[in-house]
Formats: sequence, structure tokens, C-alpha cells
Amino acid sequence: MFDTIQFQYSGETLACEKVKLDELAATYGTPLYVTSTQSLVDSYQSFERAFADLPHFTCYSVKANFNLNVISTLAGLGSGCDVNSGGELYRALKAGVKPEKIVFAGVGKKPEEIAYALESGVLLLKAESVSELRAIDRIAGELGKNASVAIRINPNVTAETHPYITTGDSKEKFGIDEAELAEVFDLFGTLKNLSLRGLDMHIGSQIFDTGYYVEATLKLLDIFNSAKDLGFGIEFLDIGGGFPVTYDPKKPATPIGHFAEKLIPILAPTGARIIFEPGRFLVANASVLLTRILYRKRNHTGKEFFVVDAAMTELIRPALYHSHHEILSVKRHDTTIVADVVGPVCESSDFLARHREIDAAGEGELLAVLSAGAYGAVMSSNYNGRLRPAEVLVSGSEAKLVRRRDTYEQLVQNEVF
Ligand code: LLP
Repeated sequence: MFDTIQFQYSGETLACEKVKLDELAATYGTPLYVTSTQSLVDSYQSFERAFADLPHFTCYSVKANFNLNVISTLAGLGSGCDVNSGGELYRALKAGVKPEKIVFAGVGKKPEEIAYALESGVLLLKAESVSELRAIDRIAGELGKNASVAIRINPNVTAETHPYITTGDSKEKFGIDEAELAEVFDLFGTLKNLSLRGLDMHIGSQIFDTGYYVEATLKLLDIFNSAKDLGFGIEFLDIGGGFPVTYDPKKPATPIGHFAEKLIPILAPTGARIIFEPGRFLVANASVLLTRILYRKRNHTGKEFFVVDAAMTELIRPALYHSHHEILSVKRHDTTIVADVVGPVCESSDFLARHREIDAAGEGELLAVLSAGAYGAVMSSNYNGRLRPAEVLVSGSEAKLVRRRDTYEQLVQNEVF
């Protein structure tokens, strides 16, 4: 199913829940991220329903959308958080997430980030190398703490997805190689400020084939059993995130229930508490990026362009991963044209769609770029002196501004001049 049901036409105008998008654009300007609260609730609940028969703990991966209101909405439903930096930990705590519901990952944590995590009392610090284990032990010792750690395993499974978002392959920087595990287990005998409480993996993102999860999970379970034989009482098995969503209705994502069907029978007998870290699955289809058409132009070859006020600086996914985002005209039209939808940034990669059949909207009208809730606003930048966009959260017929648009003053506020 193409799960953008909270974005439907109401009469001739596209709406988010009960709020028309043209009204939001008039109030808050464009480009504007618009997020549906109901969609966040629906996706969280469908994830929880799928895994209901497995004792588990869902930690929303806040890197997908770290707006404080998005984090707190999901936390209010019972979710914990997966964070990847001191900044994300700060955001999760600020949004009201309890530290004991936070897991801290990251291939290169700085000493001060490790100290911040230990002082905050996060549930698990995930270690991605032998050197990092030593660093965590040293810092925990200095702080007089014992660190709860999980080892991130690199299961050497190459999941088929965009090469920039596959992480479980031995070519990649992530996790600890199986060959090193004997040394790692030995270390726990000598490093006295560490407790090994979990094993962890994350094989990549937007993965359609359940088989990769099964393959990697079975490897994780082998390691779990070896760890048990060595006397380690591993309480947590963290399977990571990566569950897919539909961006293109012609390529529907594998339903979450299929992943649950394959994973529950192999995970349930372990008796461990299973952690999942979905990011995209919970937020991707909850937001659109609303943009206004500045100009339409047609070149001598007959090629049509919609030049819009959103760019790769607001949504970098098409430029970076050639990812597909559906684009709808906010006002319905009877005719369509084939056009490139491009932004104002000085890069040829600055496009939101290429050669796309799209409603023949005119200059000054609005387009909605769908499925922009994951890795959209969080990856925005000020390149080309652009102002990072405003964000609005809709609930029923209410809309609230949850991030103000950058100002010119903010563009230079940290410069010393
Ligand atoms: N856990 C860890 C350790 C991760 O590194 C990630 C994502 C997740 C969980 C959540 O993965 P998800 O469920 O969202 O697939 N910018 C790219 C995606 C990068 C994903 C990075 N890690 C994109 O726009 O597709």
C-alpha cells in the first residue's frame, strides 16, 4: 500500500489530515515541511502490531527526523530512541525521552560524547571497534561508572539497496568483524568498567528482501550462543532498522508483517529482549515538502522545467541517491505534462524529479513532494546561502509551527568577523 493516506485531496485541494496545504503555504511560506501526527501514530502502531508477539523494545532512530515534536510524539506512544551523536542524544533528552530508553550508536564517538552518554545513563552504548571498547572503559573508569555496552557486529551481509545505505558488508566501516570477536570477548575479562549486555547489528536501509535480515540475524544468534557459552548474560539483541517504505507506488515496499513473520520465530526462542531501530518506516510517509513553482520554462528541445523554491538543500535524496519522490499538484488539474522539477541551487544535481509526468500546474502554484519525512529536513543545509525551511505539525484540523525558517542573521551568527 502507498501509505500517504493522511495526504488526500479535499475537493480540488490537497490536504494534510483536515488542513488544506494551500492555507499552510499562505500562513508559513514555502518551502515548508508538513507532517501528519496521525500518520506517525499509524506507522508506529502498525510496527508494534506486526511485532506484538515478540518481547521487544522499539527505539525510533531519530536521525530520520529529529524534530523535537516528532521525537516526543513517538516517545508519547511508547517508543525509545536510537541516537548517533551527542547532538541527537541532546535532542532526545530535550524531547523528554528517558535515558533508560535510549541506545547510543555511532562508528566514531568522541570521548566527550561517550562521557555525555555515560553521565546521562543511556540504556546501551554500542561499541564499533576494539579501540572504542578501550575508550569506553577508560572514560567509564574516570567517571566512576560501569558502562552497559552492546557490540555492533558486522555480519558481512550485503543487502540489496542503494550502495550508500548498505552497512552490513565487510567493505564498510560499520561494526566489529566476526574474526575479531574472540579478542573482544577476552577484553571483557580485563576491562573492568564494562558490562556486555547486548549484541547489535544494522545491515542497511530501505531493504525489501526479508532474506537479508534472516541471514544476518542467524549470524547474530550464533554469536549470541557463543557468548552464552563463554558465560556472558546477553539481555538485548538489537536488530537495527532499515525496514522499507513505498516511495513509488509502482514499487511497493514489502509489508512489515513479512519481516515479522520471518524474524519472530527465530528471535522469540532466544529469550532476549529484542530492540528494533526503525527510522524511515515510522516517519517517511508522514511528511510532504511543500514548494511553490517560481517559473516554468521550455527549452528549444521541447524539454519542460518547473523551477520551484525547494532545492537539494531542503531534500537531498534525489540528488544523492537518485531516489524517487512522488510529486502532486496541490490544486488538481485535468491535464499533465512531462517535466523536470528543479530547484534554484547552482548544481545540475539539484532536481527533485526528472522526466516526470506531473499535473500541468502554473507559475505561483504549489507542489507537494511526498514521502519526505525521513532524511528530508534533517539533511537540509545552508549551501548557496539558503535558509533551512520551516516545519509544521498537523493534528486533525490544527497546525502548529514546529520549526521556524532560518533567517539571514542566523546564516552568519556563528561567524567571527
Ligand atoms: N540504526 C542505525 C544504526 C542506523 O545507522 C540507521 C540508519 C537506522 C537505525 C535507521 O534506519 P532506517 O530504519 O531509517 O532505514 N540518508 C539515507 C538513509 C541513511 C540511513 C542511515 N542509518 C536516505 O535518505 O535514504
